Amino acid sequence: MSDALLDIEALDAFYGPFQALFGVSLRIARGETVAIIGANSAGKTTLMKSVTGLVERRASRLNLAGRSLLGLETHAVVARGIALVPEGRRLFRSLSVEENLLVGGHLHRRGPWSLAAVYRLFPILEERRRQPSTSLSGGQQQMVAIARALMANPDLLLIDELSLGLAPIVIRDIYAALPQIARQGATAVIVEQDTGQALKVADRVYCLRQGRITLEGRADALERADISAAYFGV
Ligand SMILES: Nc1ncnc2c1ncn2[C@@H]1O[C@H](COP(=O)(O)OP(=O)(O)OP(=O)(O)O)[C@@H](O)[C@H]1O
Ligand SMILES: [Mg+2]
Repeated sequence: MSDALLDIEALDAFYGPFQALFGVSLRIARGETVAIIGANSAGKTTLMKSVTGLVERRASRLNLAGRSLLGLETHAVVARGIALVPEGRRLFRSLSVEENLLVGGHLHRRGPWSLAAVYRLFPILEERRRQPSTSLSGGQQQMVAIARALMANPDLLLIDELSLGLAPIVIRDIYAALPQIARQGATAVIVEQDTGQALKVADRVYCLRQGRITLEGRADALERADISAAYFGV
């Protein structure tokens, strides 16, 4: 895939002496939606942190749009056009919904996303814009976190645990937003515990187990049995 937006080759990641990723290679094309699946502790969050420079890592290649991210600090990675929606969302608790969104836009990268555009994507956020972010439901807070990331007009949007712990009705609304995000030109990588959801929304899927990629394929072509084997190692 020569037109890869994200191109990772032989990535290892470490927490001190503990190695969490082993030789992970993946390529994601512009405009794709890719899901990373895998059991607890498989290394999904670590993969996202490796891209954004939040964990110690080495790789023979870690490129965004052909330029290496290795050696860059997180703020510089963000400035290159990567936005992370972290596990647990990490909203600014003392700020209102709209203030959280404006923080996301502070780099003023050019692109389709603005306050008006994210409010069109998630209308409930406009209704709640003056409220403290903590007063929202978990699902609405996840919408704020995604909208805040979009305000940076990223080329690559990383979402860790898209639906974990959220009510089914709001999961549906959030998933419905993903194709709209893709149409605006952002490439999305989502970590999803719910494999069924991941397969519905993603073009391609990678499965991680114990820090290694155990399966890669088009979501519409993967067999249930192969996914189970890759996921559980049985
Ligand atoms: N800060 C840390 N210090 C030490 N080890 C860590 C740290 N964070 C994660 N690990 C370890 O790294 C491995 C991968 O963890 P990671 O959080 O990436 O998994 P995950 O796939 O995101 O799991 P989950 O589904 O539970 O979120 C695990 O063995 C975990 O215990
Ligand atoms: Mg995780």
